[in-house]
Amino acid sequence: MTKSIDPFYVMEVVAAAQEREQSGEAVFHLEVGQPSTGAPKGAIDAAHRLLDSDTLGYTTSRGIPELAPAIASHIGAQYDLDVDPGRIAITQGASGAFVLTLLAAFETGARVGVTTPGYPCYRNMLTALGMKPVAIDVDSSTRFQPTTELLEAAGPLDGVIVASPSNPTGTVLSSSEMTNLVNWCDDNDVRFISDEIYHGLTYGDTEVVTATSLSDNAIVINSFSKYFSMTGWRIGWTVLPTELTGLVDRLAQNLVICPTALSQHVALAALDCREELDQHVVRYTQNRQILLDGLPKAGMTDLAPADGAFYIWARTDHLAADSKLLAAEWLRMLGVAATPGVDFHPTNGHKYMRFSFCGSPETMRGAVDALQKWRLRQLAH
Ligand SMILES: Cc1ncc(COP(=O)(O)O)c(C=O)c1O
Repeated sequence: MTKSIDPFYVMEVVAAAQEREQSGEAVFHLEVGQPSTGAPKGAIDAAHRLLDSDTLGYTTSRGIPELAPAIASHIGAQYDLDVDPGRIAITQGASGAFVLTLLAAFETGARVGVTTPGYPCYRNMLTALGMKPVAIDVDSSTRFQPTTELLEAAGPLDGVIVASPSNPTGTVLSSSEMTNLVNWCDDNDVRFISDEIYHGLTYGDTEVVTATSLSDNAIVINSFSKYFSMTGWRIGWTVLPTELTGLVDRLAQNLVICPTALSQHVALAALDCREELDQHVVRYTQNRQILLDGLPKAGMTDLAPADGAFYIWARTDHLAADSKLLAAEWLRMLGVAATPGVDFHPTNGHKYMRFSFCGSPETMRGAVDALQKWRLRQLAH
């Protein structure tokens, strides 16, 4: 069964881009959803101190005692919400949180709704764990987010995973839309899992709501990978319904023992680095505008509203029938690396491209310039 797990195609684009760089040619990286900045300075300083002063052995499966209360304070400050730190488990990134919570919340064979397009690892993880991903097809008519009508139409569900802001589309659920979904799930005994990994990365007057404020049954997943710019440190967290805390603890004890000790201390320090991290958001805001202004001039006018995260989801089938081939052509001819939509949408992904704007403004300008010239050449032929 696990033999049928799909690859994460973006990694192939990454490999091709690296190959090009190694041969001495420049690449504009708009393919991976990974901040180029690294952990904030205060967090790196903590890492240096810890390496010299701590044995960094196993921690408890839920993490070092200070981290859950510090995350509870972070949640309090972000959403004006009181959360019992006893409901917070520290995990190996959001990915680790997904494995633990899916195992805790569902039995083998459980039917869990995931949006298409959506983050591919949801469906691949569910399949690997012996559960059934149920595709909920979303499009621009609902800003690529699910609605209660779509959930209703999906047939019997044990759970649903929602990401707001979403990867790959960057679209955000309003407070009332999120409330409708959460209430529908509670009324229908469907477990609501809210992937909030892109919270902190929103633009304009976009507001996000955490599912923790809407229902005690919701599972919320978050991470230090995106806003905190700490992908490789592999630390995330989950806010759990009280009845799942013990089971998640026991699963973590057996599956991973504990999240990496050094990374937990570094994450704790990163919570105090908001000033530096907010500067990244200023840069993403600038990058987003460069793409929103520049991509239409390169022929891409059908763009999902990039309200959050750091992605622009662009329709490209009028430029080339297969976005995988188009991505390969852009990389070869222009040095522009972008991610074809096939990872995110198994059937329609060939019509879309995902641009990630977490690099530098210079990268965005260089890419847009090259794409516009390419489009002019394409029109001239
Ligand atoms: C929507 C979404 N959820 C989860 C993850 C996994 O994040 P982590 O690095 O915290 O495991 C990603 C990574 O790109 C993502 O885009």
